[in-house]
Parts: sequence; C-alpha cells; structure tokens
Amino acid sequence: MDYSAALHTAIDISHEAGTIIRAAFPETALSTIVRKGPVNPVTDTDTAAEDVIVSRLRTAFPAYRILAEEGGGDDALSAGPPIWVIDPLDGTNNFAHGFPHVGISMALVVDREPVVGVIYDPLRNETFAAVANGGAARNGRLIRVSQVEWLEDAFLATGFAYDRRTAIDNNTERLDHFLRRSQGVRRAGAAVLDLAYVACGRLDGFWELRLNPWDVAAGILIVREAGGWATNAVGSPDCISGDFIVASNGRIHAEMLRVIREGAEAPRPE
Ligand code: IPD
Ligand code: CA
Ligand code: CA
Repeated sequence: MDYSAALHTAIDISHEAGTIIRAAFPETALSTIVRKGPVNPVTDTDTAAEDVIVSRLRTAFPAYRILAEEGGGDDALSAGPPIWVIDPLDGTNNFAHGFPHVGISMALVVDREPVVGVIYDPLRNETFAAVANGGAARNGRLIRVSQVEWLEDAFLATGFAYDRRTAIDNNTERLDHFLRRSQGVRRAGAAVLDLAYVACGRLDGFWELRLNPWDVAAGILIVREAGGWATNAVGSPDCISGDFIVASNGRIHAEMLRVIREGAEAPRPE
C-alpha cells in the first residue's frame, strides 16, 4: 500500500493546525490554561488545533479511525482499520509559558506500525515527515541521524512525566547517570521535537518513560526512516505505547540500553 498521498494530506493539515498555534502564541496561551493534573495543562489552543485536525481527517479518510490526545478521536490503539494518532500540541507547558518550543504530531498506524509520520514545528516552520520505506525529510530534504559512535560523545534529551512529583521512578536517577556519561542532556519539553531532532542529527539519543502513543508514533517512524533506532527499554522495537522509549542514531543504542538496564547499579565513570 502506498501512503504517500496520506502523507501529503497530513502535512497540509498539520500546517493548518500550525496557523492556529502561531496565532495564539504567546498572548492567548497564558489566559486559557486548565490543569488536567498538577503540572499537566491544556489550553483552548490544544482543543482548537485538535478540532481542525480531527475534522479534516474525518473528511479525507472516512474509513480510518482516530486517536487524539484531547479526546476528539474515537478509539484506542487496538487492532482494526488504520488509525490516525494525533498530538495536536506537544509542549503545552512550554506554550502556556511563552517558551517557543512546541510541535504537532500526526501518525497513521497500521497494526501498531506507523506508516506515515508528520511532526510540524509551527514556530520555526519546520516539517519533519516520513512514509514507510520512503526515507525521512525536513522541509522536503532527506535527513539522516548523526554518526556519533560513543555515548561519551553524545548529545541527549529526555523528559519527565506528569506524575513526576509523586512517582517513585521519576527519571531523575537515570538523568544523573546519563549526565555523567554524555556531552549533555536537554529537557526542552516537547517529546515529538526530541524525536524529530534525533532523526535529523541535532540530538544523538533520547529516552523518556510514561509517554503516550500520540507522543511517539510519528517520531518512531521518522527516526527509523532517517536510519536510527527506536525501541523500548529492553531493546524491543514494540515501543508505540510510549511506556518507555529509547531513540537514537543506532550507534549509541546498546550503550543507552545498558545504562537504563543497570539503573542504580550503573558504575560511575572514572
Ligand atoms: C508532554 C511533552 C513533554 C514530555 C511529557 C509529555 P504535552 O506532552 O512531550 O516533553 O516530557 O511527558 O506529556 O502534554 O505537552 O502534549
Ligand atoms: Ca505530548
Ligand atoms: Ca499535547
């Protein structure tokens, strides 16, 4: 099945949603926050962007299902017809504080495998896109992951889940270990852009736990089509749940998995 037409439609739709986000940034962002949890905001712009995406997808792909973060879709990631998996505004905390780093993520998933992925950064006008077996591109030009060989030379990113105030594993211990073994770890607050940045070589690796399918589905495909790897914490390619994702240029993947596996027992570098 050729999904190139679906890719182009998804890019158009992501750009339309992007105009809504750009128009609201930063003035109206702060005034419309509702908290889904203590540190988990949603704004009117999240829902406005999702409404546009969902209604346009329903018109363009009436036979496909939709899973969207703010509830505008109709399904879970179960077996069945192809499903669009949508994060209409990733980085809502950034958005709500006027921090210009947000993305829109759209993936078409068939039997838990993403076949189309689009990540659009509306504030930098960067479009990261991939179709299965067709390579990955940024603004229409092919991209590849970095060539960094070793973790000690790697530039990494991570994030912290919304239950980080109370969760026993809030990722800070792992952060400590990666900070000691790499060139740096960024926490820029938009997982979809972290994945896009691994794909285009701005980052060499990324890990995060307790994400959701809408945070990772498009990024998994874009990273893989750019020559990188995306797995769960033990190296299985089945990582679309977002429970634990490790994405990298492939070369440093085994070292990242080892640090994650060793956890508190990981030896400190000399
Ligand atoms: C969040 C961002 C953030 C990550 C959180 C996500 P949202 O998504 O991707 O970087 O650390 O875990 O939930 O809520 O802004 O769409
Ligand atoms: Ca998200
Ligand atoms: Ca979101």
